[in-house]
This record gives sequence, C-alpha cells and structure tokens, in this order.
Amino acid sequence: MKLRCAVVGHGGIGKVHARIAAKYGELCAVCDVDEGKLESFEPSIRYTDYKTMLDEVRPDVVHICTPHYLHADMVIEALGRGINVLCEKPLCIKREDIDRILEAERQSGAMLGVCMQNRYNAANLFVKEHLEGKKVDNASGTVFWHRDAAYYASGEWRGKWETEGGGVLINQALHTLDLLIWLCGEPSAITAAISTLTLAESIEVEDTATLVCHGESPFIFSATNCSARDCPVELTLFSGGECIKVLSRDVLVSGELHHFEDAYKPLGKVCYGSGHEALITDFYDCIENGRHFAIDGSEGAKVVKVILGAYESNGKKIEIK
Ligand SMILES: NC(=O)c1ccc[n+]([C@@H]2O[C@H](COP(=O)([O-])OP(=O)(O)OC[C@H]3O[C@@H](n4cnc5c(N)ncnc54)[C@H](O)[C@@H]3O)[C@@H](O)[C@H]2O)c1
Repeated sequence: MKLRCAVVGHGGIGKVHARIAAKYGELCAVCDVDEGKLESFEPSIRYTDYKTMLDEVRPDVVHICTPHYLHADMVIEALGRGINVLCEKPLCIKREDIDRILEAERQSGAMLGVCMQNRYNAANLFVKEHLEGKKVDNASGTVFWHRDAAYYASGEWRGKWETEGGGVLINQALHTLDLLIWLCGEPSAITAAISTLTLAESIEVEDTATLVCHGESPFIFSATNCSARDCPVELTLFSGGECIKVLSRDVLVSGELHHFEDAYKPLGKVCYGSGHEALITDFYDCIENGRHFAIDGSEGAKVVKVILGAYESNGKKIEIK
C-alpha cells in the first residue's frame, strides 16, 4: 500500500515535494496559508492550518516546505503526533531548537529526515565512497552565486534574521557546506567573518561569508550571493597525496576525469539540483522497510551548528557546540 503523504508549504520547493509525493505515494493533503497556492488541488485535500491537517488526515509522512523560522515547531508538532517528517533545509535556525527537535525525535516513534539532497548526487556519492577509510588532510569549497533585490523581495521571510535566520550561508550555501562536513567530519572550532557587500539596501543578513573550520580535517569555505552569475560550485579535497576536485557532475582524482549522470532529472529550478527524487524515495523506503534514514535530526543539525558558529565568531576562533 502507498504511503499517505502531506505537504506543508506549496511554494517554490513545496511544488517539487508534492509532485514526488504524488508519484510515489498517495498525496492526501496539501497545506499553505496562502489559499491561492492550493488551487491546483481538489478542495477536499486543501488546508490552511497545518495542525488541523495533521489531526484530521493523520498522514504517514509530512513534508515541511515552509520558511526557515517555522521548521522547528512544525517538525516537533508532527513528531509529537507520531507522524514521520521530512523537513526541508535548514533543520532550524536557533541553537536551542536543535535540542528541542532532537528530544522530540527521541520521544517519537516516527522518523525525522532532513532534505539535503545533494548527498544523493552520483558524483558526491563517488567521492564519499572513494574516501571511505581514508582521512581528508584538508579541503576547500566555494559557492559564488547571484541573488538580487528582486529575489529577496519575492518572499516576506527572506533576508531577515528572525525569519530566514541568515543569508547566503543558511540558505544557498548550506548544501555545499554540508557536503564538506559529510566528507571531512565535523569541525571542532571555527573562525569566520560575514558581511553584506552589495545587498545592504535589501537585506539585513549576510550576502558574503568566509569560514576557516578547524579540526582533524580542516577546511575553508567561501560563499557569496554577490557574483554576477551562478558559478558552478567547487570542492577540493586533499587526502594522502591525492587531490580530488568536484565540479558538479565531474570529479578529477589527481587529474583523472570521472563523469557522472544522476538517475533523476532536475525538477523545478536548476539550483534545486536532481537529488530530491532520490532522497524522498529513500526516505519513503526507510519508512516502509523500517530502515533508519541517514540524514536524521543529529545529521541535519551538524551544518546548522557550523553556520550558527560562523555567525557568532565575528573573526574570533570559537568552539562549535
Ligand atoms: N533543498 C533545496 O534545494 C531547496 C530549494 C529551495 C528551497 N528550499 C527550502 O524550502 C523551504 C521553502 O523555500 P521556498 O523557496 O519554497 O519558499 P517559498 O516562499 O516559495 O514557499 C514557502 C511557502 O510556505 C507557505 N507558508 C508560510 N507560512 C506557512 C504556514 N504557517 N503554514 C503553511 N504554509 C506556510 C508560503 O505561503 C509559501 O507558499 C525553505 O526552507 C528553503 O530553504 C530548499
């Protein structure tokens, strides 16, 4: 029998989740505070209040695709009802919410997954496997993208500390930073600087950040939304004399080129990538077969802790807690 699925937040990424949920499960409810965003669905499955939806529909799984500041409470409410939750990134935007979420996850019989779909890209999976049992000596990553005032004006919640929880780091660059943490291990300390170089008239959060992450496998990370265009994301990892360069679908291992095609086509905007279908089908499979989903609460929290450390650092070396 198909899983009964619900989606909260039917904006940019919620549409992608709803399409995949309808393809692999039974989409039994969709919720958005803006009723106009639900017109493509039968009236019987539309909701504007997510708690009413959870109580009336009791889905097997709910996808949280709302603005950042709503994630923590929505995840906790669903887990408290024993409903499996797949939460879009970031898991949350406040340090105290990490503990609240992990406690709710421990208390719940249901599963929590965090949508960091780039871990499912074929090139990244190749690198993860290639580094199995090896130590990364050091690494670096860059995200040089373009987001302008019109982008920030497209959503009330964007560009504000209270509702987005940060800028380029917690939104656009989170996936690449997560890949570095996945491949290098969690840093123990961080020295970082953030600034708002070109978007200060439109946003209160940072548009540019530089992170020096300290630990057994140290790495540096640089991200900006001030580039004239979206440049391809780059990762470079040094391990035991090998240099591994990751450029989207191409991986150079000490100069030798490996090219990868992903199993699924991108849905939605190009920057969403093609990993959502792979991640969601894996999450559903975990629920159906009682397997643990790898990107659980504590795994989803790792990148949030590094980002919150970067915001706190202000040029000083601080411990990541
Ligand atoms: N994994 C990825 O690659 C990826 C890509 C894009 C967005 N995202 C994440 O997805 C989330 C949503 O981003 P988006 O770009 O789709 O934003 P969006 O603004 O386009 O969509 C958010 C939707 O949530 C709705 N909403 C707001 N408050 C609500 C509430 N209380 N109950 C129900 N619905 C509510 C809004 O009306 C809107 O339709 C963010 O966390 C974002 O970081 C992830």
